Amino acid sequence: MKTTLKTKIAILATAACWALSAPLALAQDAPKPMRGADVSAADQAPDAKKYLGGKPGGQEKIARTYRDQPPVIPHAVENFDEITLEENQCLTCHSADAYKKKKAPKIGDSHFRDRDGKLLPTTSSLRHNCTQCHVPQVDAPPLVENDFKGDLAEGKASKGKKKN
Ligand code: HEC
Ligand code: HEC
Repeated sequence: MKTTLKTKIAILATAACWALSAPLALAQDAPKPMRGADVSAADQAPDAKKYLGGKPGGQEKIARTYRDQPPVIPHAVENFDEITLEENQCLTCHSADAYKKKKAPKIGDSHFRDRDGKLLPTTSSLRHNCTQCHVPQVDAPPLVENDFKGDLAEGKASKGKKKN
């Protein structure tokens, strides 16, 4: 009688041990989520990337890689005012009137045409929001590898000197 009771207790103890340790073992075997956090956890914003630019002229241009690519901005833009309905600081250097004095490249010829291709006397309002297409340079490695080559071979890009 005594022995059976002992055996029963031993079996119960083993079962209890297994019940307690099994979830632990399972948790260790669980696959690691690729986003580094539990599915229900809020998304972690990546660290803010620093723009490279300094003063205009102080930084090498990134070559354009395909036709009609808006060139990336080779200078800092943080200190410029927001582009508003009344104001556009980019144009104080890049407009047709100002570019020579400021030794800045003139905005593209395409920026003086309306949607039907008609030449306008001033910058088209379609091009008013410069940073919608032009972005400052930033040291950010590509998130995924790619082997995009652009059409440099046709001589339509490179050196950022192409006129449209
Ligand atoms: C103080 C004058 C000044 C202001 C303001 C300015 N830029 Fe520039 N920008 C320059 C000069 C000078 C260059 C050429 C020198 C260089 O490579 O940095 C240039 C180069 C560029 C280029 C490269 C063009 C090419 O052919 O590769 C782009 C694009 C550009 N700027 C966009 C902008 C935008 C958009 C703004 C407003 C957010 C702006 N710039 C404001 C002076 C200015
Ligand atoms: C809708 C997109 C778009 C907007 C908005 C835009 N651009 Fe461009 N920009 C381009 C493209 C595309 C090119 C290259 C082809 C060309 O020259 O049109 C370019 C070219 C340029 C160039 C180089 C010109 C050259 O001769 O190599 C400068 C400088 C420039 N843009 C400045 C500006 C400024 C300043 C503004 C705001 C007033 C602006 N852009 C608004 C798309 C845009």
